[in-house]
Amino acid sequence: MTIKPNRINAIVGGTGCGKSTLLQLLLKFYKPTSGSIHAGSVPLEDFKEADWRNAVGYVPQKNHLFTGTMEENIRLGNVTATNEELLNAIEDANLRPLIESFSNKHHTNLKPKAANMSGGQKQRVALARAFISNAPILMFDDSLSALDFKTSEYVQASFRKNTNVSTIIVASQDIHAVSYADHIVILDKGKVVASGSYQQLTADDSFRVKEG
Ligand SMILES: Nc1ncnc2c1ncn2[C@@H]1O[C@H](COP(=O)(O)OP(=O)(O)OP(=O)(O)O)[C@@H](O)[C@H]1O
Ligand SMILES: [Mg+2]
Repeated sequence: MTIKPNRINAIVGGTGCGKSTLLQLLLKFYKPTSGSIHAGSVPLEDFKEADWRNAVGYVPQKNHLFTGTMEENIRLGNVTATNEELLNAIEDANLRPLIESFSNKHHTNLKPKAANMSGGQKQRVALARAFISNAPILMFDDSLSALDFKTSEYVQASFRKNTNVSTIIVASQDIHAVSYADHIVILDKGKVVASGSYQQLTADDSFRVKEG
């Protein structure tokens, strides 16, 4: 499969088909047992771990927030970020209204396990952490699942904006939830079964049958 640079790429398939595993392979958490992964013409194993880690921003399917302030949690994505980069990330993740509702603003402390935040709020902090990294590759594993429709559309626009500097890869179980993607790769039982645009894939009756 090919990931298109500076585009929004989606990996789609049912539960257990291998989406998260694929993203973890791209993160070099695992080595492929067969085949290989290249970035441009360079095999992934030729990148130093630290260099590659700086090149990839990643929002895992299960996000991890820490006790500490809102700002500290976001800055984990880029410890040398400027204040402007912090504010941009907050804006891109649509976190500003939430942060402004707190009396201590971005200095507000998160409770253990972020118990004082909803699922969607936590997801937006995780998104901001990726956006602040300005990494050339940004990967989001099912990262809009807890967002309402309007917020999801807002973040999709942020993805689009970030294609200026980043290649975006999103994983989702639902092809219709990633209709905004430029390129969609369908997985089934760990194998690529189709790829193309949303229009191409949803116009194809054979795929429709498979999907059902
Ligand atoms: N660490 C692991 N060791 C062995 N098998 C694993 C491991 N992690 C996942 N699997 C298996 O690999 C397959 C793919 O899992 P994966 O988490 O990549 O699926 P997924 O497409 O992300 O699913 P979901 O939509 O539910 O998140 C599943 O059968 C899963 O049980
Ligand atoms: Mg998964």
